[in-house]
Amino acid sequence: MEIRPLSSVLGAEVVGVDLRKTLDQETARRIYAAWVKHSVIVFRGQELSAEDQKRFALLLGEIQIVRGKNYAQSDHMFIGNVEIDGRKGEIPYGEMSFHSDGCYYEVPMKAGTLYALEVPSVGGNTAFASGRRGYATLPARLREQVDDAEVLFIYDYIKNDMYRSKPDWADAPRFVHPLVIRHPDAGDPILYCNRLMADSVIGLDEEKSEALITELSDHLEQPENVYEHVWKQHDLLIWDNLAVAHARTDFDPNERRAMRRYTVRGSRPVAYYSSSTLSAGPTRVRT
Ligand SMILES: [Fe+2]
Repeated sequence: MEIRPLSSVLGAEVVGVDLRKTLDQETARRIYAAWVKHSVIVFRGQELSAEDQKRFALLLGEIQIVRGKNYAQSDHMFIGNVEIDGRKGEIPYGEMSFHSDGCYYEVPMKAGTLYALEVPSVGGNTAFASGRRGYATLPARLREQVDDAEVLFIYDYIKNDMYRSKPDWADAPRFVHPLVIRHPDAGDPILYCNRLMADSVIGLDEEKSEALITELSDHLEQPENVYEHVWKQHDLLIWDNLAVAHARTDFDPNERRAMRRYTVRGSRPVAYYSSSTLSAGPTRVRT
């Protein structure tokens, strides 16, 4: 097995593994370590059944039961504009701006595993922005503003998938998380913010909150923080849902796109700089 970086910021391709077979412990350990290090790992040319994909996802943790617009509950989801196994795909068309799956819940997803069943000839790429590098490259002025801050995430999936909006329905899912979180495996600080679902920074008035979220999103989405994956059929891609935000580019709606997704259950994000973690973590350094 070989691990080849896909860009200088994040992402690695894992070659020399057949995921139809059960992996030995050492191989599984190396793949997990590569996922923590590179945030996105890709296996190309894998012909995987749903069971194969589920078995792989279980290497990272428990399967997260998900719900979509087209069904009540399932251990997996189809994303796409075609019907698969009698089920319509979710989020069928168009562009989607940067977000993190489930950040509006107390427990966001740990990882997503996405398998390409059918891909359009152009577009429908998935871009990943590194919250790790995003934090490391923040100007000192912005660090001062985010280190102790908390952000309310809301997902208004009724309106659209492209622009942040104030939901006009009371039970739109929402949760407050720290703006700088400690990565559960690597222990380092991650900028946990995204353009689509970060609604407001706690304690700031609306104008200042909007300005900060926009500035942080612009910073996070700079090309030097981003790897954009161009899909090929039979790619299996696994992303670290706390370490990176992800987005989708547009594609021709007349072309077919179908992805099978199993997600891995996470844990509640912990603040990197909270007093409760100071005793356990590195000493706080202000620049
Ligand atoms: Fe997503």
